[in-house]
Amino acid sequence: PYPMFRRLLLEEPVFYDKNTGSWVVSRYEDVNALLRDARMSADRYVALADTVPPEQKEMNSYIVKSLSMFMLNVENPTHFRLRNLTNRSFTPKSIAAMRPSAHAVVNELLDAVQPRGHMDVVADLAYPMPIKFICGILGMPVEDMGLIKQLSDDVSVYIGSAGKAAGCIPPAYHAIVEFSKLFRPLVEARRKEPKDDLISSMVTTRVDGDSLSDDEVIANCILFLVAGFETVTNLIACGTLALLEHPDQLELLKRDSRLMEGAIDEMLRYYPPVNRTARLCVEDIPLRGKVIKKGQIVVLMLGAGNRDPSEYPDPDRFDIARENRSRPLSFGGGHHFCIGSHLARMEGEVALGALLQRMPNLRLATQEVEWRGNSRFRGLRALPVSF
Ligand code: HEM
Repeated sequence: PYPMFRRLLLEEPVFYDKNTGSWVVSRYEDVNALLRDARMSADRYVALADTVPPEQKEMNSYIVKSLSMFMLNVENPTHFRLRNLTNRSFTPKSIAAMRPSAHAVVNELLDAVQPRGHMDVVADLAYPMPIKFICGILGMPVEDMGLIKQLSDDVSVYIGSAGKAAGCIPPAYHAIVEFSKLFRPLVEARRKEPKDDLISSMVTTRVDGDSLSDDEVIANCILFLVAGFETVTNLIACGTLALLEHPDQLELLKRDSRLMEGAIDEMLRYYPPVNRTARLCVEDIPLRGKVIKKGQIVVLMLGAGNRDPSEYPDPDRFDIARENRSRPLSFGGGHHFCIGSHLARMEGEVALGALLQRMPNLRLATQEVEWRGNSRFRGLRALPVSF
């Protein structure tokens, strides 16, 4: 189903793309190693700023200033500092404590559609659940879900294209301005009177006398929304699709809910919500007879690595009980490994568990599903089902 991945993996596992002047690396082993390689830097937006048209330079430098405070885009010592000051809310223990509220959110959403006998898994479950959830964790009221989705889409298009997609700079600029307007009053209020939420934890956490500035808290709130929303939407929707496309696997999972954890891994492998990430090479790296030069961008194809036959025998088979399975590359690796992975897994388990339990006769209500056109975040536009 992924002919381009297959070609890359078999013919050009370290491919130089002349059109973009960047490298594309696809084998599991290489992607996994490069994610942990100190010669690769996640701090890459400043390096790309030269390609911006003059009239957009000012807007772009505003975006880059905010993006450069995202833990995703910085290296040590700043990365360690940002991660250390925010990770308390994402430990397995904190996430386990959130499970009951995840059940409540999912049940409320499913109650609304149950009498109908049909639903769109994207619009009715996979999209509203994570946004309600991440906003709840942050301590942000969800007054306008559509607005938050639009703003986070505009930021993610910029991130996905590293600022190069035509026209992505003005919307991303506007989105960051609007997000800041939403977050700043919350940050100020939590400084005065902390509550039991992530913004309060970010403003009050001190490590060795160090704490986050308001701008750093705001930037990472934006990151949590952008990183923790559409990705989980895609996990829930594409995971459901994978099960419906493979009725034997669906039946297996229904019979034995202990398989859920492995099933989530297989869904993440088979339809990864984030297909690729990128790094800036800061020191020459010889790889498979080629040399990635200092200053070049390297695209790491997480989605292709997940289908590498030398890591996963029969990689195009969806098998929730794979033996000796390696962890998929879907959450990245090394020190930028997804901080929200436990949260995402928990949301996926709760949403899919409830869907299978409450809608036992679940089936696809369309011949062909429609995918969204973003090559970094892979997701469905809609997933009509009946039950
Ligand atoms: C990092 C995927 C859910 C927050 C990452 C990375 C990947 C990823 C691939 C590493 C990117 C890189 O190294 O360049 C996913 C997937 C998810 C998911 C597939 C859902 C299935 C979440 C959630 C949150 C989140 C729910 C909520 C807070 C983050 C953050 C980072 C990150 C803050 C940056 C970590 C760092 O740089 O130290 N994610 N993510 N993600 N993710 Fe997730």
